[in-house]
Amino acid sequence: MSSPPATLSLAGNTVGTFVPAVRHRLKQMSTELRSYFGVPFCLRDGNSGEVLLTGEGQSFGDDSILATICAGLCQEGMPTIVAEEHGCAILAIPLKDGSQDLLAAAAFRLSTSDAAPPAFNKIGQLLGCSAKEAQHWFYAQSEWTIAALQRMAHLAAEKMAADVEIGRLTEEIDKVSDSLSSTYEEISLLYGLTQNLRISSTDSQLGDLALNWLLEVIPCRGLSILYQVPGDKDRTHGGGFEHSLLTAGECPADAKMLSHIVRQFSLNEKRAAFVANQRITERGDWPFPEIRQIIAVPLVEGENIFGWLFAINHTEEKGFGTVEASLLSSVGTILGIHSGNIELYRRQSEFVTSVVRALTSAIDAKDPYTCGHSDRVARLSVRLAQQMGMDTETLNLLYMAGLLHDVGKIGIDDSVLRKPGRLTDEEYEHIKLHPELGCNILSGLKQLEDVLPVVLHHHEQWDGKGYPHKLAGESIPVLARVTAVADAYDAMTSDRPYRKGMPQERVAQIFREGSGTQWDPQVIKAFFEAHDDIQTIMQEERAGTDFDVIGWIKSMQES
Ligand SMILES: [Fe+2]
Ligand SMILES: [Fe+2]
Repeated sequence: MSSPPATLSLAGNTVGTFVPAVRHRLKQMSTELRSYFGVPFCLRDGNSGEVLLTGEGQSFGDDSILATICAGLCQEGMPTIVAEEHGCAILAIPLKDGSQDLLAAAAFRLSTSDAAPPAFNKIGQLLGCSAKEAQHWFYAQSEWTIAALQRMAHLAAEKMAADVEIGRLTEEIDKVSDSLSSTYEEISLLYGLTQNLRISSTDSQLGDLALNWLLEVIPCRGLSILYQVPGDKDRTHGGGFEHSLLTAGECPADAKMLSHIVRQFSLNEKRAAFVANQRITERGDWPFPEIRQIIAVPLVEGENIFGWLFAINHTEEKGFGTVEASLLSSVGTILGIHSGNIELYRRQSEFVTSVVRALTSAIDAKDPYTCGHSDRVARLSVRLAQQMGMDTETLNLLYMAGLLHDVGKIGIDDSVLRKPGRLTDEEYEHIKLHPELGCNILSGLKQLEDVLPVVLHHHEQWDGKGYPHKLAGESIPVLARVTAVADAYDAMTSDRPYRKGMPQERVAQIFREGSGTQWDPQVIKAFFEAHDDIQTIMQEERAGTDFDVIGWIKSMQES
């Protein structure tokens, strides 16, 4: 008996320093074992044999023996009776706490038929106490048989192992469900953004949407987007960013500060996500102490960077990590693609506009007597359509259609087109080809396909006596019916070298008589309602073709 019964004085306590969670689990195990066996257990480290938690009044005299065989018992993993003598047994049960092996041990009084009193000094040696203490202990115990001890030990070990496994699985489920719910939030955010990737939504509409969603998902105090003109690095240099910064939450940085960071860290050249936590922001060269943590990701599409998306200051003052940076990067890419599409659309519209301009000047050059006819018809049609309650998109389309309605005249002989005075029947038939010729000229241009019905049908009549298809009533496309009235009005009122334009009263009379025969009564009604504006339009001197139809209508109505 070389080791002293050192642990008796610490009965029921943990030995050494543990984190509270470990101490709590050890005590829980000990309590559970006590509920099965009715005695306190001593818990040891399965590898070193070191006592972690003493059982009340339970310390085994030959401490070194249990400590030595501890690792072997744990490896076997089976409950074992390690000593059985003098009417007393020591039971050891290997347990696990996570990856740590533990050995629980307790002494038991065995039932015996022996009438002679037990040798308390021997029991004292086994337990590590005096004979008197051993006697006291002995008579306070319930009697066990070896078989009952073994059965109970197996059941207890299995139950406790199952509990540990359930605890581990529950923890894993919690982790998986946490990560699932954050993945779900991220996916629904990205899905929501892609649903809003319409050309009609502007950069700032989609940007605002993204910032407000991100504010709920990313643990940051503020978010912002700094837009820049792609390919123009100077755009991030000077000031004048008031209109190119979007923010959400508490954002301590303005456009100047953010563009300073973009410049200082050469972000436009690196074109990758940039994360700066305290390690960087607490350095002497960090320019803005109010920014303690920041992520910056580019709004990138192909070669172009349309701006930078920033998450600023962690809500718990922790550092931002790869999870936040990668979600932000996905959003940055979506915003970049959207900006790229808008840019592409803007360039396409510009191209279409320049084609329309070129065609309009070709028509005017072809027939100088009717100079400005296309532009006047376009604006008159827009005013009539506005009177009829058509929407902005339709007004824009109608303006384009008005400009191009006579584009087919490019294919009509100059001698016929410029002939002063009456046309022969043959010449008139030749001129009547211009709607179909116009249609052929434009049919290859996908962007202009919506104006084709106007080009083809602007000479149809409400009573079906027009050309080229002799359509009648509502089978004539409505925009063609509108253009027909504007076209006739400009033709009747404009001066020609060979005749003066008709007076307003005469035109009004012709329209009244032709309503419901030559022209759509609804359009004629709109004409009389908007008569004053229409005369203003006719008198308006216009330099070039202005495609801002809505702006033009507004300015006309304000003046
Ligand atoms: Fe025409
Ligand atoms: Fe015309």
